[in-house]
Amino acid sequence: MDLTQDRITACLTNPRFQFKLGDITKETDWIEKQIKHCDVVLPLVAIATPALYVQDPLRVFELDFEANLAIIRLCVEHKKRIIFPSTSEVYGMCPDQEFDEENSYLVTGPINKERWIYSTSKQLLDRLIYAYGKHKGLSYSLFRPFNWYGPRLDNVFNPKPGGSRVLTQFIGNILRGENINLVNGGEQQRCFTYIADGINALIRIIENKNNAAHNKIFNIGNPKENISIKTLAETLIKNIADFYPAHTEKAKSVQLLHVEAKSYYGEGYQDVSLRVPAIRHAKEYLGWEPKVDMKTGLRETLDFYLA
Ligand code: UGA
Repeated sequence: MDLTQDRITACLTNPRFQFKLGDITKETDWIEKQIKHCDVVLPLVAIATPALYVQDPLRVFELDFEANLAIIRLCVEHKKRIIFPSTSEVYGMCPDQEFDEENSYLVTGPINKERWIYSTSKQLLDRLIYAYGKHKGLSYSLFRPFNWYGPRLDNVFNPKPGGSRVLTQFIGNILRGENINLVNGGEQQRCFTYIADGINALIRIIENKNNAAHNKIFNIGNPKENISIKTLAETLIKNIADFYPAHTEKAKSVQLLHVEAKSYYGEGYQDVSLRVPAIRHAKEYLGWEPKVDMKTGLRETLDFYLA
């Protein structure tokens, strides 16, 4: 179930795929019926765009927290296994060089920095799921995506600053011949993880061979592809100029602008400067590690958006 279906049109004709257009905050009877019938639940509906954490924190709480809490409780009631999307955002501004599922502290800012409502909503759900596992027998796996990207990530034609995640925002800027905004100069770093690697990890979690994913938390990210946002912008411009002749001129004319976070996102924003996952858990229990480097992943993504 989702509010739109434009990113899954390829799946809709598959006889093994069922989809219902709708709002998970309203279709509670339908959701309960599905949960009763299934083996495993992966509730993936949430707002996951930082600009919206600041602009509409109540909606983030209502959808990401409240609507998902109802689903978690149904899984407890009907004794269904749940695979729940936590997030790299739960680590917040943790000073560790790499974030560890069991030892790193989860560090967020003051209440007037509304950006953290997503992180803390997800954190409390992680804590609830953990407690339901311990005290009510809930079978769960939590996974934390680290900047997953690839085809169909966001709509690159959304011209609103902060309207999508950084990669699609920058591709949209270049395609529209706009300059790129580097928030606070773009020195902050992210580990970009290609979608096929993310899905591969999810399949292993669903399979749950020898119960290896049972009641565990997994960072799912690519620690080798840790780059600054400025480098990401430069790489995109160069790639588009070199490999997509129809867009060469536009790419070459793009300037990198330094903007203050306050003016780009508003007062309620705070950033994460370094976000590297430790992936020992995923390696040890799932036999998983990322395989797609950024050069390949970016190429696939640009082919999709520029085709
Ligand atoms: C994202 C989102 O919270 C979620 O999608 C997710 O939970 C998580 O991280 C993840 O995928 O691991 P963030 O990485 O901060 O958070 O999101 P982006 O919007 O992709 O921004 C990345 C960085 O680029 C930020 O430092 C942001 O300030 C910067 N940025 C963004 C710019 O410099 N310019 C822009 O135009 C847009």
